[in-house]
Amino acid sequence: MSTIDYSEKIPNNVNLSEDRTLQRALEQWQPNYLNWWKDVGPEGSQNFDVYLRTAVSVDPQGWAQFGHVKMPDYRWGIFLNPGDPNRKIHFGDHLGEAAWQDVPGEHRANLRRIIVTQGDTEPASVEQQRHLGLTCPSQYDLRNLFQVNVEEGRHLWAMVYLLHRYFGRDGREEAEALLERRSGDADNPRILQAFNEKTPDWLSFFMFTYFTDRDGKFQLCALAESSFDPLARTTKFMLTEEAHHMFVGESGVSRVIARTCDAMNQLKTDDPAKLRAAGVIDLPTIQRYLNFHFSVTIDLFGADQSSNAATFYSTGLKGRFEEGKRSDDHILKGQTYRVLEVHGGQLVEKEVPMLNALNEVLRDDYIRDSMAGVERWNKVIEKAGIPLRLKTPHKAFHRNIGALAGVKVGPDGKVVSDHEWNARVEQWLPTDEDRAYVASLMGRVVGAGQFANWIAPPVMGINRQPVDFDYVRFN
Ligand SMILES: [Fe+2]
Ligand SMILES: [Fe+2]
Repeated sequence: MSTIDYSEKIPNNVNLSEDRTLQRALEQWQPNYLNWWKDVGPEGSQNFDVYLRTAVSVDPQGWAQFGHVKMPDYRWGIFLNPGDPNRKIHFGDHLGEAAWQDVPGEHRANLRRIIVTQGDTEPASVEQQRHLGLTCPSQYDLRNLFQVNVEEGRHLWAMVYLLHRYFGRDGREEAEALLERRSGDADNPRILQAFNEKTPDWLSFFMFTYFTDRDGKFQLCALAESSFDPLARTTKFMLTEEAHHMFVGESGVSRVIARTCDAMNQLKTDDPAKLRAAGVIDLPTIQRYLNFHFSVTIDLFGADQSSNAATFYSTGLKGRFEEGKRSDDHILKGQTYRVLEVHGGQLVEKEVPMLNALNEVLRDDYIRDSMAGVERWNKVIEKAGIPLRLKTPHKAFHRNIGALAGVKVGPDGKVVSDHEWNARVEQWLPTDEDRAYVASLMGRVVGAGQFANWIAPPVMGINRQPVDFDYVRFN
């Protein structure tokens, strides 16, 4: 079961050839997918040979095979973690019952919505990143971008398989619609706002893969607990791919910081103007990008109080992060959780039923996890002997969803007047000038072992290859 059959048109480990109807339906979707990739996938890259990893098994050891492939020939397929026939539901009202191998009729609409919402983010990020290859800082980075892109494409396949296999005609229609919506399109946008924002430069890309792909991790972890076993198994395998995306983001930002600190020490200055004249990205600009991506991403967890979140949990559709490691009753009735609201010009905590606050629970788990990486970035600054530290903004800062939507709160968590917000927003969020400066640095560097001036080379290459390996052959 764990070995993937590559002799078939659609590589898979779900015995696709035994279900002819399903196989035919997916084989009809496949050329539409490829057209979508050619239309809005990585620009100008169709003929490149890229050093990519491809899944060859779902075993934790040795699932990936590396080699140069043209991206339209990448073997996108359907890979589920092995199932446990005795798996039991371990949270919510059905606790202790057998996990579902099929979709219970009463949960069909909600499950479809969950799968479509997750599925929609996958092609969206490919669309958001499609121009970045034109301004890559190195071949190594270009390869990492493309690896992320092909895997997001595969994540779309993962969700489309579920839609086709378990949701009949509705599912097939949703699978088509996933190829029709477009990131940032005025008439037919992607479902979630962070996936309609632009990813115009590589600092944004690294911040996106650090913060927004990490949202992906937390959503997938919550779905990996699902009572609907095929969803749990497919998201578990997606998580192994997601880890690389977050590595690209964390190491990318870290290398930008390292290069900046290097210039600060060489020039003995922390003056942004002087550092910009030297062609590196000053730390306050990095902080503003961080503030933007963090705040936009934490909105993705949804409203702090949500009856849908309660329903998804109680009915067993979506668990908490690391549900199995928690020692409470996994039903949560009668328990409470603290959420924030503004009262008399101040942020105050309010106790609400925990079931309704599960979006907030997941958001708080996410915030803890993302702060850990920011501390690793701070180590780079500290090692360079520079006193400044980066900080994740307060979770009430720059929010657009839930009780805090539109409330003016500074990154330090202090409620501010409209006047103060307007006076200080340029210190807190990237300005047009910041974005124009970062954009001005973006030029294409693709010589073997060469790196753009604004970023340090990585410590080591991919799959133990040297840093100056030919990761992309341009033909
Ligand atoms: Fe993904
Ligand atoms: Fe991802």
